[in-house]
Amino acid sequence: MKIAICGKGGAGKSTISALISRGLRDAGFRVLLMDADESNFGLHRLLGVEQPVNLMESMGGKPELKKKMNQAFRENQPVQYLSQALTTSDIPEECFAESDGVKLVSMGKIHDFGEGCACPIGVLSRNFLNNLVLSDDEVVVIDTEAGVEHFGRGLDTNCDLIIGVVDPTFESFKLAGKMLEMSDKAFKKIYFIQNKVSDKVREAFSAALPSDKIAGEIPQDEDLFLNSLNGTKMSSAPPQVKDICAFIKEHWVKPAPKSAVSPLKF
Ligand SMILES: Nc1ncnc2c1ncn2[C@@H]1O[C@H](COP(=O)(O)OP(=O)(O)OP(=O)(O)O)[C@@H](O)[C@H]1O
Ligand SMILES: [Mg+2]
Repeated sequence: MKIAICGKGGAGKSTISALISRGLRDAGFRVLLMDADESNFGLHRLLGVEQPVNLMESMGGKPELKKKMNQAFRENQPVQYLSQALTTSDIPEECFAESDGVKLVSMGKIHDFGEGCACPIGVLSRNFLNNLVLSDDEVVVIDTEAGVEHFGRGLDTNCDLIIGVVDPTFESFKLAGKMLEMSDKAFKKIYFIQNKVSDKVREAFSAALPSDKIAGEIPQDEDLFLNSLNGTKMSSAPPQVKDICAFIKEHWVKPAPKSAVSPLKF
């Protein structure tokens, strides 16, 4: 099962990705938390671990990745992660950071001024997800970059479920409508988590989101906020996370078995 966590910048995608990963681990799954956000560096801190070597670095860095993409595409050469089936055991040990049973893996990060666009990381993420074959007890939770660019790149077509994180802002409500539209076009199920909820804003959420699309709500939580402020490991989880994970388990669509790996897609 591959679950993409999406939403507006700052809505709480990384926080909720980490919470859901822990919640699904508690429900008995082996969880891979995939950091597909090439700009932000905070996810590993929420888990209380060092940033692992990212997959792009382990493939030799961006220029080498581009070379391998050409190989896979033009010369029709099979290249690991891009055009070959893989399981989680094919991922090099250095690319994992483990926190209480949740395994973090990062696709790639933008480090330098003028280093070129992030498209190779996007292509790697999408093809990695497409080629990754999971067993029934494995789940991948994908912390995506802000906005809807990943829909354009086709990342979501390789997921089995989309979770939109919505915080109480006008922009977030608007973006939820856009995500609903785009997930429909991608033939993917989407549900929303209402985040940073207090009594004062609950009504605004009800007015903005379709009631049959709500996976649950996470309250405005001082501890979560302080963990992020201080860059420290999330020490506790709001009790609502358990119900949200139960909802996700009930509503995910079991992926059809794949007979063959599709060739590299740009
Ligand atoms: N339920 C919550 N209660 C209080 N604060 C929260 C909650 N969820 C997230 N936050 C805070 O909101 C801020 C943004 O959270 P987070 O980094 O998870 O968002 P994001 O969507 O991943 O952001 P980005 O788009 O930059 O990746 C952080 O300060 C975080 O602590
Ligand atoms: Mg984030």
